[in-house]
Amino acid sequence: MAAGQALAALLAALLAVSAQLLPPQASFAISLRKVDNTTVTIKLKPGVSSICKMRIRSVIRSELILKPGENVTFTFTCSTPEKYFIMEIQKNIDCVSGPCPFGDVYLYPVQLPRLNRTYTWDVKASTKAGLELKFSAPWLRQIEPGETCSDFISYNINSCIDNTMVNIGTFCRNGSVSRVKLLGGVVMSLHLPWDSSLTTSGFSIANRTSIKRLCIIESILKGESSITLMSPNYPLGFPEDELMTWQFVVPSSMRASVFFHNYSLSNCERKEERVEYYIPGSPSNPEVFKLSDSQPANIAGSFNMSLQGCDQDAQNPGILRLLFQVIVQHPQLDENVTHLVDLSKERNMTVTIHLDGWPGRIPLMSEPVCLICKDPRTCDRILTLASGTVYRISFLCKDLSRLRITAEKGISCVDLRWCQRKIYSLSVPKAILQLPIQLHEFIWKLLAPDLINIEVTSPSLKLQQHVRDVPEQRCNRSYSYSIVSATPETELNVGVFCPGGSIEKIQMRNNITITLRAFGKGFINETNHQDLKMSFVPHIKDECSFTVSPNSKAKVYLQTPNWRYGLPPYVSISWYIIVPSKQIARLGFSKDRMGIACETGRAYINIKEETLGAEETVRREDEVLPDPRNMYHNFWVNISNCKPVDKMQLTLEFWVTFADKQIARGM
Ligand SMILES: *[C@@H]1O[C@H](CO)[C@@H](O)[C@H](O)[C@H]1NC(C)=O
Ligand SMILES: *[C@@H]1O[C@H](CO)[C@@H](O)[C@H](O)[C@H]1NC(C)=O
Ligand SMILES: *[C@@H]1O[C@H](CO)[C@@H](O)[C@H](O)[C@H]1NC(C)=O
Ligand SMILES: *[C@@H]1O[C@H](CO)[C@@H](O)[C@H](O)[C@H]1NC(C)=O
Ligand SMILES: *[C@@H]1O[C@H](CO)[C@@H](O)[C@H](O)[C@H]1NC(C)=O
Ligand SMILES: *[C@@H]1O[C@H](CO)[C@@H](O)[C@H](O)[C@H]1NC(C)=O
Ligand SMILES: *[C@@H]1O[C@H](CO)[C@@H](O)[C@H](O)[C@H]1NC(C)=O
Ligand SMILES: *[C@@H]1O[C@H](CO)[C@@H](O)[C@H](O)[C@H]1NC(C)=O
Ligand SMILES: *[C@@H]1O[C@H](CO)[C@@H](O)[C@H](O)[C@H]1NC(C)=O
Ligand SMILES: *[C@@H]1O[C@H](CO)[C@@H](O)[C@H](O)[C@H]1NC(C)=O
Ligand SMILES: *[C@@H]1O[C@H](CO)[C@@H](O)[C@H](O)[C@H]1NC(C)=O
Ligand SMILES: *[C@@H]1O[C@H](CO)[C@@H](O)[C@H](O)[C@H]1NC(C)=O
Repeated sequence: MAAGQALAALLAALLAVSAQLLPPQASFAISLRKVDNTTVTIKLKPGVSSICKMRIRSVIRSELILKPGENVTFTFTCSTPEKYFIMEIQKNIDCVSGPCPFGDVYLYPVQLPRLNRTYTWDVKASTKAGLELKFSAPWLRQIEPGETCSDFISYNINSCIDNTMVNIGTFCRNGSVSRVKLLGGVVMSLHLPWDSSLTTSGFSIANRTSIKRLCIIESILKGESSITLMSPNYPLGFPEDELMTWQFVVPSSMRASVFFHNYSLSNCERKEERVEYYIPGSPSNPEVFKLSDSQPANIAGSFNMSLQGCDQDAQNPGILRLLFQVIVQHPQLDENVTHLVDLSKERNMTVTIHLDGWPGRIPLMSEPVCLICKDPRTCDRILTLASGTVYRISFLCKDLSRLRITAEKGISCVDLRWCQRKIYSLSVPKAILQLPIQLHEFIWKLLAPDLINIEVTSPSLKLQQHVRDVPEQRCNRSYSYSIVSATPETELNVGVFCPGGSIEKIQMRNNITITLRAFGKGFINETNHQDLKMSFVPHIKDECSFTVSPNSKAKVYLQTPNWRYGLPPYVSISWYIIVPSKQIARLGFSKDRMGIACETGRAYINIKEETLGAEETVRREDEVLPDPRNMYHNFWVNISNCKPVDKMQLTLEFWVTFADKQIARGM
């Protein structure tokens, strides 16, 4: 049995080898008519050396060139010539010296061996005559350099100006490009893989009157769709001082928007590079745009767009190139609904409306777009509004829940005489809240020179510090504030806070950034009573000072700032805890040591009641922290850091509870 199997395997292997070497039965006969002016070349793929050859009668060759009027019969010496050989079929069409054979273009000759092949039609025509390449459905789709077509069938269109080849583009089948019109000849090639069963070229050639420009590319966009197109030679430069046009055929019931994704400009000596639109119904045709402008959106029906180059600086020409997208959508139901955004009374504020996930996430080109419009035709994926202005915006977006608002407001104080005692409300303006778009973040940047500090208060709601490991003190509201204090050198993450706690006031040094983050829809309801205020105050002693006045019997947890990375070296923080007169407070630490060793300086905790002759409790980093203790008056907790030895971080958490005085006595 085993021997039989081995023999069978050996036989199979021998057969496999011989299949490569033995002359197969198939022989090919190619005969070219003189009138067709076609040359066929069969050759090894560049860079391939092969044992596989061609046998013509008894002569062995590795290349064959068959000229118009010639014929040949040959075989391959292997059974898989498609692995090694390629074929080029070149047809010259001369429309200058004789009549032009217009009409459908055929794949000639027929019955060629199955090899990867490139058909090239080299059409010479007078520079005064226009040529039109018309593609049969399902038309073509332009691809970027380096992209391949899923069926490996691609078209390449080249034009010739002043003996220089211009690559109009490379295309796959199945797209919206229906016609390409050119001037004075074209070199059109079609690449087919060896196993393709395509039998027609898929296009016809016709003559047209002069188009007076490099080319016109026509796209027919029937339903909701998106196409990407590139300027000729992309990513290299569009020919100097040339003009070309894209025509878009769009049903009048649909809306088209144009987006420039990638462009660069050349250095113009004379004239300006620009795009011009003919938009039916527009009172100002052609509409001229710079490439850097936001391009027209929400165009009803067909339009055309022309790209105009300039006279370039010969020394340093630069590159004019453009990659753009046209998106066609149904009109949105509320395209005519405008929202008034009155920022006229706001100061130093910007409001950006954008897609969720921006700026990190780049939307896929295939995703339905959400556009925000400043006026019916000026729409973009991102819109930034500035304070001092009244806007009427509208949305072209099926699903407004994909959009978010991020706003930033700067408040600065240069001279305390002007800003002291002035109370600034840190609330999200109604103009933003009433938009049907969810707020993502509202950022307040509070700037002050070195000797002016900042006080943040929440008089009626009071703030709760977000403490992750205490479930009842996690910020679970629909919004929270993150407070960061920064100098040019360091950043101190003061903490995350939400309304409904016991912190009345936070005083901080340095410039402060407060970021309101909203989570979900409930935010709108909860912001009816926003209650965050700020003012500029004279210089304070500590880096950061909290005033805490608990109004419940709940346990309040407080943590040192910069919880994740530890308190920075030498920084000192204080808490002033208000104890109601009929109550006593109990103070305890969540661990029994500071947990650091100092490299320089010493770290301290000081606890002191605010009453005459009160004794101060002091602990150093090498001592045990105080046991839980009762406090009968308002008191201070002060924590100051040393420079801890490497990798040690000072993070401290303490709690305060309250009880009525009588009950406490009974305990
Ligand atoms: C091939 O060419 C030869 C002369 O070159 C000619 O005699 C012969 O008839 C041609 N055969 C075909 C099939 O065209
Ligand atoms: C034939 O075309 C296919 C697909 O483009 C490619 O993978 C293959 O390498 C080509 N073969 C030769 C011999 O060029
Ligand atoms: C065939 O091609 C040659 C070379 O381009 C050209 O000179 C000649 O005019 C062409 N003949 C026809 C009939 O197109
Ligand atoms: C043509 O492209 C569309 C979308 O790009 C696709 O849905 C369709 O299947 C494609 N048709 C063919 C024949 O490849
Ligand atoms: C197209 O070519 C034909 C024949 O060569 C000529 O009669 C006709 O005027 C041409 N049409 C255009 C639009 O140039
Ligand atoms: C835009 O052009 C740059 C530079 O050529 C290239 O790196 C980038 O991938 C292009 N982006 C797109 C979307 O084609
Ligand atoms: C562009 O559109 C306008 C108006 O429809 C038309 O007059 C003009 O001929 C078009 N130009 C091109 C090059 O398509
Ligand atoms: C929006 O207004 C334009 C101009 O008045 C009108 O043509 C269009 O039908 C309106 N769109 C919708 C969805 O009502
Ligand atoms: C406006 O805000 C920016 C920061 O967002 C700040 O640099 C600037 O000083 C502020 N101007 C005024 C007048 O508050
Ligand atoms: C938030 O947490 C508090 C305390 O744990 C709890 O009473 C409240 O129900 C929570 N609210 C929500 C919306 O989860
Ligand atoms: C705060 O910002 C202002 C303006 O950018 C700057 O002049 C000042 O030095 C900053 N203050 C601190 C403490 O970094
Ligand atoms: C907001 O409040 C209104 C009325 O108080 C209520 O009907 C609505 O459900 C609330 N919305 C959310 C998201 O909580």
